[in-house]
Amino acid sequence: MKIAVTAASGRLGHATLRWLSGGIGASDVVAVARQPERVLIPGIEARAGDYHSLDSMRVALRGIDTAIMISAPVAGGSERITLHRNAIEAARQAGVRRVLFTSIIGNGGEMATLFAATQRVNRQTEADLQASGLQWVIGRNALYLELDLLQMRKARETGVYRNPAGTGRCPYLTIDEIAFAYARLAADKSQTGQIYNITGEALTQAELLREAGVVFGLDVRYETQSDDASIARFRELMPERGEAVAHMLTGCFQSIRAGAFDVPSHFQAAAGRPARSVRELMQDVAVAEAALSPGTTP
Ligand SMILES: NC(=O)c1ccc[n+]([C@@H]2O[C@H](COP(=O)([O-])OP(=O)(O)OC[C@H]3O[C@@H](n4cnc5c(N)ncnc54)[C@H](OP(=O)(O)O)[C@@H]3O)[C@@H](O)[C@H]2O)c1
Repeated sequence: MKIAVTAASGRLGHATLRWLSGGIGASDVVAVARQPERVLIPGIEARAGDYHSLDSMRVALRGIDTAIMISAPVAGGSERITLHRNAIEAARQAGVRRVLFTSIIGNGGEMATLFAATQRVNRQTEADLQASGLQWVIGRNALYLELDLLQMRKARETGVYRNPAGTGRCPYLTIDEIAFAYARLAADKSQTGQIYNITGEALTQAELLREAGVVFGLDVRYETQSDDASIARFRELMPERGEAVAHMLTGCFQSIRAGAFDVPSHFQAAAGRPARSVRELMQDVAVAEAALSPGTTP
């Protein structure tokens, strides 16, 4: 039973490949990436496959039982729907039995925010997969803890962390914890026809900061920021990502404020164990950082 991960050269791809490799053995794991040489895990077969090219994906997915289809990066709006359709159709033509799509959480409230465009892509791909005739599993990811933690730790310079989330609750998981759930879901052949929220503990921004205070000694307070100020901040922070990304990231926080990401967790049903708490996940991040740079303080 071979399991492939597509769009595998990124963060979620590598983490999922590692868990799969440890679980079912590297010889049954295939990485599909635009540039297979960017897959850096020994013992795993890496094949070339680009979501832009249905042909390349069909060839790459030959002999695969289950494909974990990682969502294409946010860019170009409706273009992502086409890329995902290519991957689904390629899986069908290649004879893949089951596709697991990595989507994003939301309870509908996010459709009134600047996150709606991103969410429409994910929900459309979910619908396309369900209509494909393939066996399917959908995982809706929590937000990546690492990304917001980075911003919180940067706020050490000013002592204030601002975004538009207000007192809304949001579940965060590390990329590694999300990947663990996907590797378990993919390896369990009985898992099909279900949508799982791959989430854990849901905290407010102020609660997240408190946890970061315990684990990283961070002494930063939270303030709600206006949507316009948030867009301006992202514009300034990452000019190379463009206006659409500044809107999308602000939309994430609007969605948190609206309670749209405060969804029930299905992590245990997907992964066979409860999700690690936010504090444990932050401790995991601290341990990983210490291993990379021994002797530095968090
Ligand atoms: N839940 C969250 O908080 C959150 C946060 C960020 C992103 N996401 C979503 O989750 C996905 C995975 O996250 P990540 O952290 O692994 O992202 P990442 O590290 O940026 O990796 C993105 C991957 O997509 C690949 N890719 C880009 N265009 C492709 C194409 N046309 N065909 C096939 N592969 C393509 C990239 O390949 P190359 O190596 O060739 O560039 C890379 O392997 C993202 O793409 C995004 O949709 C979720």
